[in-house]
Amino acid sequence: MKKITIAIDGHSSCGKSTMAKDLAQEIGYIYIDSGAMYRACTLYAMRHGMITADGKVDTVALENQMPQIDVSFQLNASTGRPDTYLNGENVEAAIRTMEVSNLVSHVAALPFVRLAMTRLQQQMGEAGGIVMDGRDIGTAVFPNAELKFFVTASDEIRAQRRYDELKAKGEQPDFEAVLANLRERDHIDSTRAVNPLRQADDALVLDNSHMTKDEQRQWLLDRFHERIEACS
Ligand code: DC
Repeated sequence: MKKITIAIDGHSSCGKSTMAKDLAQEIGYIYIDSGAMYRACTLYAMRHGMITADGKVDTVALENQMPQIDVSFQLNASTGRPDTYLNGENVEAAIRTMEVSNLVSHVAALPFVRLAMTRLQQQMGEAGGIVMDGRDIGTAVFPNAELKFFVTASDEIRAQRRYDELKAKGEQPDFEAVLANLRERDHIDSTRAVNPLRQADDALVLDNSHMTKDEQRQWLLDRFHERIEACS
């Protein structure tokens, strides 16, 4: 059976990663979290003193260091999902903190970072049979993807999901701060000069504000099977 490329884009914290991972697992495709790659670059910049707490990046230093930043994924046998590696170190937990979330949009807006990550993403997806989620997958990374989704949900519902996620990890988040971070990230992601977040003309829109996980799963699978049928 032909293996296609599936692009899932949309706003922060609308459950894209979880739905992309579940879909990939179910249909036997590889899952790639492109946001994790921008997060890993951000972590690198933080650890090397190249970004201030309010998001000012030493772009000269970071651009020089880009060839030294190796981001990859390895399947975690106990979760059955890929973990993110930065220069050989498993950084899956370190890239999910509020600190990284607060700074990542600034790093992801830099054209040289986007260029490097886009190239890497295109290499990873060369052979098809992948589900990749992010902000510009259907518009810039794989404009010819056979199946594209644009996912969204209301701000408050997305903030509540993120808040619950952080709480479950043992952090003590403040709901208003989580909501403000999410809105700020959406704003930076949608208004940046290079490959901003936008819905591809041929993307199918999924507003999951009031959908259960099962309804969403079934909806995605139905769209996948329809597409496969149309492609064969
Ligand atoms: O999906 P996420 O929240 O882990 O993404 C982290 C950040 O990276 C977010 O601010 C948007 C940015 N991003 C991007 O600019 N392009 C992508 N393809 C994926 C993520």
